Amino acid sequence: MDLKQASDQLEQIRNQSLEFTYMGSVASYIPELAKVERHQLGVAVCLPDGTILSAGDAEVPFSMQSISKIFSLIVALCQNGKDYVFRHVGKEPTGDPFNSIIKLETTESHKPLNPMINAGAIAVAGMIRGANVDERLDAVLALMRKMTGNPHLSINQAVYCSEKKTADRNRALAWFLKDSGILETDVEETLDLYFRHCSIEVTAKDVATLGMVLAADGILVNTGERVIPEEVARICKTFMVTCGMYNASGEFAIDVGIPAKSGVAGGIMATVPQRMGIGVFGPSLDEKGNSVAGVKLLELLSKEWKLGIF
Ligand code: DON
Repeated sequence: MDLKQASDQLEQIRNQSLEFTYMGSVASYIPELAKVERHQLGVAVCLPDGTILSAGDAEVPFSMQSISKIFSLIVALCQNGKDYVFRHVGKEPTGDPFNSIIKLETTESHKPLNPMINAGAIAVAGMIRGANVDERLDAVLALMRKMTGNPHLSINQAVYCSEKKTADRNRALAWFLKDSGILETDVEETLDLYFRHCSIEVTAKDVATLGMVLAADGILVNTGERVIPEEVARICKTFMVTCGMYNASGEFAIDVGIPAKSGVAGGIMATVPQRMGIGVFGPSLDEKGNSVAGVKLLELLSKEWKLGIF
C-alpha cells in the first residue's frame, strides 16, 4: 500500500462523507450525548505494522457505547468459556432495535438473542467476575489498555452519570433478565458495570488499533503477543458481521462487507481480516442508531480499497 496515496484517499473520502452528517442527529436519550457537535467526522486506519493513517476528527474523544460490548464479551468468554456464556445469551441476529424488549418475553428460554443488543450485553456484564464493580470494570479496561497500548484509557464520568440517571429501559431489561434467571448477579451492580463500560472514552485512533488486534486474530501488532484467544476473536468478528450494526447489519454487509460494531456516541469499529482496523467517529446518527456519515465513509472506503470480505 502506498501510504501517501492511501492517506490522500482517506482524506478525500472523509471530506466527501461530511455532508451526510446533515442527514442524522445526535443521540438524545442519554442527555450528555445530546451536547455533542453533530458535524464532526473522523476516521483512522491502523495497519498490520502499527502505522496509523487518519483524517478529520480522529483525535476527538467519545464514549464507546455499544462498541464496548465486544470487549465485555471477550472478558466474559475468557473468564467463563463459551459453553457457559452461550447458555445465557444467544447467537442470532434480531431484526429489532438495539434496546428492544419484545423478544425477551416471546422466546421460550427468555435468553437475549445475541450479546450485541442491550439485553444480551447486560447478561454478558452479569457474567464478568470480580470482587466488586471496580474490579469487574478493571478486567475490561485492562484488556482494552493492552490492546490500544494506551494506559490512560478510562471512563467519561459525565456520560456515565448521565446514562445511569436516565436508563429506565435498560433497568427494565435487566430486571426481566433477573426474573427469568438469565442474570444471576446483582442487578444494580451489573447495570453499573454496563453503564461504566459503555462510557469508556476513546478516539477513532484507539478504535482503529482495537480493530487491528481483532483483524490479526487477537495478536498485538507491535509485539506479536497474543491478547485474545483466536477462537474468541473469531466469535467477535462473526457477531460484528451478523449483529454489529443492529437491524441494519444485513444492509451494511451488502453495502460495505466488513465486520463492524457501532455505538450511539457515533463510533464504529471495523476490522478487515489480516489487513487493517478502522475507527470512525461521526455522532450524527440514522434512525437505527448508526453513524450516518460513518457508514457512508466506510462504504466509500470499502469500494476504493476493495475491503469487502465476501
Ligand atoms: O445502553 C445503551 O443504550 C447505550 N449505553 C449503548 C447503546 C448503543 O450504543 C447502541 N448503538 N448503536
